[in-house]
Amino acid sequence: AAVLHVAGARPNFPKAAPVIRALDRFGIRQRLIHTGQHYDERMSDVFFRQLGLREPDINLGVGSGSHASQTAAIMTHLEELLVADPPELTVIYGDVNSALAAALVATKLHIPVAHVEAGLRSFDRSMPEEVNRIVVDRVSDLLFATSPDAAVHLGNEGIAADRIYLVGNPMIDTLLDNLDRFDIAGIRAALALPDRYIVATLHRPANVDDPVDANDLVKAMHSVADQIPVILPLHPRGRSHLENAGLLSHRALRVVEPLGYIEFVSLVRGAAAVVTDSGGVQEETTMLGVPCLTLRPNTERPITITHGTNRLVSRAALAEVVASTLKAERPATWRTPPLWDGKAGERIAEVIAGELGL
Ligand code: UD1
Ligand code: UDP
Repeated sequence: AAVLHVAGARPNFPKAAPVIRALDRFGIRQRLIHTGQHYDERMSDVFFRQLGLREPDINLGVGSGSHASQTAAIMTHLEELLVADPPELTVIYGDVNSALAAALVATKLHIPVAHVEAGLRSFDRSMPEEVNRIVVDRVSDLLFATSPDAAVHLGNEGIAADRIYLVGNPMIDTLLDNLDRFDIAGIRAALALPDRYIVATLHRPANVDDPVDANDLVKAMHSVADQIPVILPLHPRGRSHLENAGLLSHRALRVVEPLGYIEFVSLVRGAAAVVTDSGGVQEETTMLGVPCLTLRPNTERPITITHGTNRLVSRAALAEVVASTLKAERPATWRTPPLWDGKAGERIAEVIAGELGL
């Protein structure tokens, strides 16, 4: 195939869908490799079904492991495939280990790499994703930035301006494409939720991997549930730590399995506020105008703060910030970040088509 996409973890799928669709319109031959980094039905298959994403041509089935073993497994399998049938271009998404592995393999085989969501920086190398972002951008040939700050970071790191494309946000393409499928009343009824509730998601290692932090986090989440019902579709990572720390013992905090994309964004759209440590959810709430409280000391997506509805908050301050957020009017002043208009996939496809000489 001319273009090979490598995806593997939940947040990759809503980013890849609009790019693949737009490249299809150019009649470009494409293959999709799923690394198998995420493999539960609810972390992977449901996105393919709901987003009409083509079936992966191959699933490497690498599964979970340490950073080194997971990254190495993807690299070893992918190298074989790329040697046997080299594409003209490899496209990778975001900052997950699947993207890192694919970037390293492709670039060493002299296959150009296009990075979708390039240039995001938290400037916090204790985050595994920050290391992945830096390395991936360093070796990528085409860098697609979702926000002006990201393009600036790439320039500051010495990447030539003619390789950096500010194209907008393909994850937001997916959100806008599906707006009329987000059914607030339907999801409230399905989950027997009241009109006012908070949605939470938690999966960052810095929040859930350490049992002591997990205790603090559970206390903070319980202090939210003291004020308003909380629904928490819980990522598998850290689940046992949080449960051991007593997460399930509050009547107003409901933990459910990870939700499908349509159900999840419906829930977010109807929420009084969101508490999260996700990257993508900071962007989706910004687009929907739903207040977002991000349980992290920093964000690689500062535009969600300067333009959007996002705010960084510590575990210790969470209860108070939730109280003030619930009292405030819904933010009326938020602006949509530039180029978050549903056309990022098309812009990316145009650049790629040009690169392939079409
Ligand atoms: C990964 C990404 C992170 C991203 C997140 C999105 C890296 C380094 N991290 O983190 O940037 O925000 O995905 O969701 O790439 N597990 C399951 N079922 C699955 C997948 C994972 O049970 O389908 C469990 C396993 O116990 C596994 C753990 O979750 O060890 C972590 O999975 P992994 O893919 O290593 O990292 P995430 O925390 O999901
Ligand atoms: N998401 C979902 N179901 C859930 C939680 C999240 O469909 O139960 C979607 C969310 O809308 C967004 C993506 O998953 O599109 C974000 O993935 P995640 O938070 O796992 O990763 P991150 O963005 O932090 O890397």
